[in-house]
Amino acid sequence: MRKRLTMREAWNKIAPHYQKEHQIPTEFVHYGPHCPNEDQLQIVGDVKGKQVLEIGCGGGQCAIAFAKRGAVVTGVDFSDGQIKFARELAKREGVEATFLRRSIENLSPIADARQDVVFSARALEFVKGIDRCFAEVVRVLRSGGLFVFSVEHPFWYCLADDEMKIESSYFEGGHSYLWIQSGLRSRPRVAEYHRTMGEWYGLLQEAGLEVLDIVEPEPVASGSGQDWRGYYALDRQQMVPATIVWKAGRPA
Ligand SMILES: C[S@@+](CC[C@H](N)C(=O)[O-])C[C@H]1O[C@@H](n2cnc3c(N)ncnc32)[C@H](O)[C@@H]1O
Repeated sequence: MRKRLTMREAWNKIAPHYQKEHQIPTEFVHYGPHCPNEDQLQIVGDVKGKQVLEIGCGGGQCAIAFAKRGAVVTGVDFSDGQIKFARELAKREGVEATFLRRSIENLSPIADARQDVVFSARALEFVKGIDRCFAEVVRVLRSGGLFVFSVEHPFWYCLADDEMKIESSYFEGGHSYLWIQSGLRSRPRVAEYHRTMGEWYGLLQEAGLEVLDIVEPEPVASGSGQDWRGYYALDRQQMVPATIVWKAGRPA
């Protein structure tokens, strides 16, 4: 029987192939495939001189884009492969950024109440201990600080993989396994946790965060940094949202 990989091992295997396949740009902060970028949505706003922490930073492209806009940036991801790629990319681009390899369920090297912004793009749906992660986000945010993150829209889980057909219940919950499009033949699977809108809202409130906005952007043909065919094809997203962005704040 084949040994099941831990999620960290799976992301380690995926990382180099994922980065090669997707060639994600560092010119702007992205939110997801075919989703308008931060310059277009202005959800985080001006970051010049601010402390920005990106959790689940992958290859570091958003962290680097924040640094290019004058932020003091730290990126955290538990995959050695992703962090190695992020450090090399920042070096190639001549950008100052700190990258830490660790789980975002425990951010202990990050000091209390120093971050102006905690940001995440399409990573938190893969995190099992999301309540621990949110407690850490609250701890590291200064009062009045912002928490902005994109995840897969909960309605997107209901769709069949390649068709406009509802295949599973919005209310089902739990998690499923999926293959990340990475060009890898062995195709390691990663777990993705299904949380309804109400669950995300409740988790943020229980952590002590105030929900400031919920953004469900209409897709764009280009400019998202990740133009996909198949699963995230534009025509599917014109009917059903694939990405949702939550904006929350740590009350002052
Ligand atoms: C789909 S990738 C997104 C990466 C990046 N934010 C981007 O938009 O390109 C999800 C990332 O979450 C990371 N990840 C998943 N669970 C994690 C955890 N518990 N702690 C830290 N990183 C995690 C994975 O290693 C992976 O790099």
